[in-house]
Amino acid sequence: MVVWNATRRNVRILLVGDPGVGKTSLILSLVSEEFPEDVPAKAEEITIPANVTPEQVPTNIVDYSNIEQTDEVLSEEIQKAHVVCIVYAVDDDETLDRITSHWLPFIRNSCNVSEKEPQALKKPVVLVGNKVDLVEYSTIDSVLTIMEDFPEVESCVECSAKTLHNISEMFYYAQKAVLHPTSPLYIMEEQDLTPACKKSLVRIFKICDIDGDNLLNDYELNLFQRRCFNTPLQPQILDEVKAVILKNIPDGIFNDAVTLKGFLFLHCLFVQRGRNETTWAVLRRFGYSENLEMCKEYLQPPIKIPPGSSTELSHRGQQFLIALFERYDKDGDGALSPDEHKMVFSTCPSAPWSYSTDIRKSCPVNDRGWVTLHGWLCRWTLMTLIDLPKTLEYLGYLGFNVHENESQLAAIHVTRERRIDLAKRQSSRSVYMCHVIGPKGAGKTGLCRGLLVEDMKNLIGKDFKTNIVYCVNTVQVYGQEKHLILRDIEVKQVLDPLQPQEVNCDVACLVYDTSNPRSFEYVARIYIKYYAESKIPVMIVGTKGDLGENRQDYLLQPVEFCEKYKILPPHIFTLKNNKKELYIKLATMAAFPRFQAAWILFYKHRLVQLWESAHLRQFGLATEDPTVWWKAGIGIAAATLLGFFMMKAFHGSGPHSK
Ligand code: GTP
Ligand code: MG
Repeated sequence: MVVWNATRRNVRILLVGDPGVGKTSLILSLVSEEFPEDVPAKAEEITIPANVTPEQVPTNIVDYSNIEQTDEVLSEEIQKAHVVCIVYAVDDDETLDRITSHWLPFIRNSCNVSEKEPQALKKPVVLVGNKVDLVEYSTIDSVLTIMEDFPEVESCVECSAKTLHNISEMFYYAQKAVLHPTSPLYIMEEQDLTPACKKSLVRIFKICDIDGDNLLNDYELNLFQRRCFNTPLQPQILDEVKAVILKNIPDGIFNDAVTLKGFLFLHCLFVQRGRNETTWAVLRRFGYSENLEMCKEYLQPPIKIPPGSSTELSHRGQQFLIALFERYDKDGDGALSPDEHKMVFSTCPSAPWSYSTDIRKSCPVNDRGWVTLHGWLCRWTLMTLIDLPKTLEYLGYLGFNVHENESQLAAIHVTRERRIDLAKRQSSRSVYMCHVIGPKGAGKTGLCRGLLVEDMKNLIGKDFKTNIVYCVNTVQVYGQEKHLILRDIEVKQVLDPLQPQEVNCDVACLVYDTSNPRSFEYVARIYIKYYAESKIPVMIVGTKGDLGENRQDYLLQPVEFCEKYKILPPHIFTLKNNKKELYIKLATMAAFPRFQAAWILFYKHRLVQLWESAHLRQFGLATEDPTVWWKAGIGIAAATLLGFFMMKAFHGSGPHSK
């Protein structure tokens, strides 16, 4: 299990106070477990090993003596310390008064001079009244007033170095003031939790509320308890806790389950009873650091991605996201409405993407334009591939670490390096990035958006007026579901250079407009410049096939060009004919890089058709136009292509398999 704790290396406790109050005696009493009659002015610094301290943190205890040390040296020691104990003698009022007149202001001043520690002003302080063996009364009333006036005072304790009364407690309180400080959690004057603490606890409540009914029932409380403290909650304790809440705030319990109000009250009670460590344990388990912000290490667990590998959602990652979706799909219609989508991310600072202009434009949606479970997983798949840190961060906010009892890395699958895929001629990935590259107006947007809709005739005018760069959906490659991401890359000028991140992808789709004679030149140049020598599979696509094909103003016609460079013949695409074939082809090429035989398997049927129709046509027997791309070629071209691919299939060599 992940024990999330900003594990401190050590706790450094400094004792200050007027001469003769018993600082040195306290330290030596703790160490030797007996009262030392003769003490030096200043004890040597001592280190208590982690295993003998209650909080399992090595602890340094540092003495101060005004005979041996100047104020400057003391200031430095205060800065170095994590907590300062101001010792006074209960039998000497003068030493008690000096806490407010001298020591607390002196500590504040000392910390102010340090620029290094922004939290410096809040150096926690413990007030220690020593020599209780000498008096019959308690100084606690005066000390409580000080506590109210100085928020840095975490706790106070009366003890005696002589009788060893409360000695170990005093050092324990000092440790606790560092490890589980009160001030970030609680405001004394208001006797209430701080806004930051409440905000964190609200998020925690929501994450624990698995069925989303705004109540924590016994099952959820038990799970919460086990995640935070690694032990189940005894049924009897559970009842007692509920009884306490009910007694104090009646609306803290509803239907025998704890409400948010009750949950907050419970934590307020913990702090008031000096059980900060309980609330801190919960906060840390959910990723919070000392200043109640989410730790960077929690949101960004270290992960190494070898160059040439990509990142996908693991099965567990998907399961988590499916459960999350189902939890927030309150009406159970299999889609997230804008409001439901907003609620999913209510445990996050904001949504990772916009509902209206991003997820519902780039992923499959239902008839009402709402994000389906399928679309939801597509969007996460996209983010996991292109922005892993953001996926990790959001899984952290959403409570993956708590529910799954493991870091977000369990939600991620790192694929093997591409060079291994290439060597094996088969990709182990299930998410492919396809760059759709072409000149303005070539029909890239339509081609990309066609991936999202069942019937391309449903694409309407406004679908094309979007600046969405990515479209994601799944396609079947030999019966296996693969995610295909189309990234729209517009080339404004023929000579505009492409950046490496624009070139690199699993499969490139170079798009030209068959109805525009100037269009193919862009594509040809891009192919030659960036892809001819690369190992990236390329598909050339001619769009607007229904508008009638024009001869291209280029030294080679598209079919000749493809033949020359030994790539698949152009795929003629039209939104009108409503075929998904193109997307399957693209995913197949990405799935089997350098393995044209596999693509051919896919085409075989088609090529045979062509072959036959070429003959039929030669004999004037062709009854129908078998394919659009056929029109661009001649009978011989199809025959040669077939021959070429057969050769590839058997020998597996060629320009793409270097
Ligand atoms: P400086 O080093 O001068 O700053 O003093 P200090 O705070 O270190 O005090 P120190 O430990 O030297 O104790 C001062 C005197 O108080 C000694 O005579 C101790 O024996 C006595 N003393 C310390 N703690 C107790 C206590 O708990 N009860 C009683 N009765 N006497 C104590
Ligand atoms: Mg001393």
